[in-house]
Amino acid sequence: MDSTEKQKKYENLIEQVKAFAESERDEIALMANVAAIIHETFHFWWTGFYRVVGQELVLGPFQGPVACTRIKFGRGVCGTAWKEKRSIVVEDVEEFPGHIACSSASRSEIVVPIFRDGEVVAELDIDSEKLATFDEIDKKYLEILTHHIY
Ligand code: SME
Repeated sequence: MDSTEKQKKYENLIEQVKAFAESERDEIALMANVAAIIHETFHFWWTGFYRVVGQELVLGPFQGPVACTRIKFGRGVCGTAWKEKRSIVVEDVEEFPGHIACSSASRSEIVVPIFRDGEVVAELDIDSEKLATFDEIDKKYLEILTHHIY
């Protein structure tokens, strides 16, 4: 897929997420439909959410194979994105120190934290079975998209 096509798909996705968010304010229901629509649009390997519950990230709504249910602060890509309060794009998971392999098929990953009042309250995590699937375009649009959830 070229970058123009990718951008168009994201723009369309964001409009749909906005519509979901206008009609449903329960975050878990919203995350469930957002995971489904991202997954259906791009056919990624795994698309889902983790929520901050106490000192851990706990698995939320997702699409794809079963995944790790709890991730500690600072651990893996997800725990690092939480600690550093920033999105992380990983071109090759084998080169990310401490990467948590929920699935051995996962080769690249993007994690986008979701904030409320400056604190991370959840994260969107997407895995691909191909190397270097995610870039600055994914990061930009997924950050916009997640703003509509909390
Ligand atoms: N790979 C993640 C764990 C979550 S799964 O990919 C669904 C990590 O290193 O934090």
